[in-house]
This record gives sequence, C-alpha cells and structure tokens, in this order.
Amino acid sequence: MRHLLSLEGLALEDMDWILLQSRGFKHQRGNHPRPLQGQTWAMMFAKSSTRTRVSFEVGIHELGGRPLFLNAMDIQLGRGEPVKDTARVLGRMVHGAIIRTYAQRDVEEFARYAQIPTINALTDEEHPCQVLTDIFTFQEKRGSMQGRVVTFIGDGASNMANSWIFAAAKMGFELRIAAPRPFQPAPAVLQRAGGRVMVTENVAEAAAGSDLLYTDVWVSMGKEAEAAERLKILSGYQINASVLRLAKPDALVMHCLPAYRGKEIDEETFEAHATTIFDEAENRLHVQKAVLAWLVAK
Ligand code: CP
Ligand code: NVA
Repeated sequence: MRHLLSLEGLALEDMDWILLQSRGFKHQRGNHPRPLQGQTWAMMFAKSSTRTRVSFEVGIHELGGRPLFLNAMDIQLGRGEPVKDTARVLGRMVHGAIIRTYAQRDVEEFARYAQIPTINALTDEEHPCQVLTDIFTFQEKRGSMQGRVVTFIGDGASNMANSWIFAAAKMGFELRIAAPRPFQPAPAVLQRAGGRVMVTENVAEAAAGSDLLYTDVWVSMGKEAEAAERLKILSGYQINASVLRLAKPDALVMHCLPAYRGKEIDEETFEAHATTIFDEAENRLHVQKAVLAWLVAK
C-alpha cells in the first residue's frame, strides 16, 4: 500500500511520476480521469489551513471522490482517543486519509493502523505536498532542477526546510540554508538526507547566484509561545531587494504562504513576485491530484 508520509520516504521515481502527472492534471482540468470515483477521503486536521484544505477538498471532488473534513478537536481524538484507535475506525469506513498534525509519528502510526493510503498534509517535521508543488512550479517556469541552486532563508529547522533538504538530496540540486544558529537544520536530518546542503548564518553568501529564493514564516504553527524570541533572532533573515540583488537576475522568489510582510519577506518583494507565489499556491491543487492518483494507481 502506498502512502505519502514524507519526502524522506518517497522514491525519486515516484516523485518524478507525480511531477509529470501534475502537468496533465493542470492542463486537463475538468477533463481528466477520476480515479477516486465512489470513494470517501477523510481529512483530519489539528492545525489551521487555507491552501491545503481547499486544494484537497476541491481536488478529491474533481477526481470523483468525496472529502470528509474532520477538525481533530471535534472528533473524539481531541478528547484523547488514541491515534491508533481512530485509525482503525476510519480505516474501516473511508478509502484514504489526509492528516495535518504535530508529531510525524502520529501520521506514521495512523497509516500503519488504518491500512488505507495516507497523506501527510503537514507535521512539525515535514510538508511534502508543499515542496513537491514548489518543485513542480520551478520546473514549470524554469525547466529542470538539475544543477540549480535553491536558497532557503529563515527558520532552517522548520518542516519546510526539512522537506527541502530531503528533496535536494533526491533530485540533485544544491540547497543553501541561511539561518541563525538556533534555527539551523538538525544534524540528524542533514545526515539522513545526504546531498549537498550549505548551512550558513550569512544570508549574502547563501543568496549569491541563486536560482530560487525561498522562505516560510518565522513562527510555525505550534511555536507561538516562542514568537517573541523567534522574531528577535530571525530578524535579519528576510527576503528583500538587497538580498534579491545577489541572486541570479532571473531568480524566482517563492513562499509557501501564509506570508507575514515585514518579517520573512518585505511587501515590495512579495508583490513583485506575487504571480509566482500565487501560481505556486494554485499548483497545490494540480500536484495533490497527482499524489492522490499515484496513491490509488494499481
Ligand atoms: N502552505 C500551506 O500549507 O498553506 P495552509 O497552511 O493554508 O494550508
Ligand atoms: N512552517 C509553517 C508552514 C505553514 C504552511 C508552519 O508549520 O506553520
């Protein structure tokens, strides 16, 4: 049985298949196969979401299935029912599950007990659907990732940074992470991934000659208690005109959204690259349809 629990666990050939099919789903919207015909997919979310929720609900519907949105706090899980019991119940009723939560092990435990295709829709450790989409968006605008330089600026210990680290190792592009010491990637993640990753406190060094500048919020969901400290420590790690000037002249700027202007990116740079950023948001729909199709493919 297939799952998408992390980019760490996704084989390169499967990643390539998903990226290729995403193009078809995008260009044949309204006229593509409906492999989820007659199916119900549960979406169990313990954190807020705009893009992930809407893109999966619309995507499942357009693939012929029915999304069943479950706020994790509204079901018995929120009152302490174990993940493995929730999984065994849902596994007998629905055909697949999409989970947004805190601990990566909860998504993995759910998949193990539910015995239905399961997608990680963001955990504290990874956001695989987002990075697959980011790569699809880059390829759509600039072609192959081979030999490219991607620079991630900001919270280098975040779920987004981790998924980029695993993607870089698999796809063979150079990843640079500019982050202050307390928010640099965990050595264990770098070691597990392998690949070429430059980790530095120096934003200019990381941005020089880059093909893609990428950032994410400084305060991820679940880290609100650290907000004041994070805003202070991360304050120099912003994408703005002076950083962009160091990148390649045709460098793309991407953001997974939501964006906090004046924090990880300034208003002017965000608006100058809004077309890319909102294409990236739209592409969640197309790429996740390909993920769903891959999960149910024989
Ligand atoms: N980028 C992303 O996953 O957005 P949401 O939190 O709105 O789903
Ligand atoms: N790192 C962010 C990503 C939001 C899509 C968070 O976890 O809140």
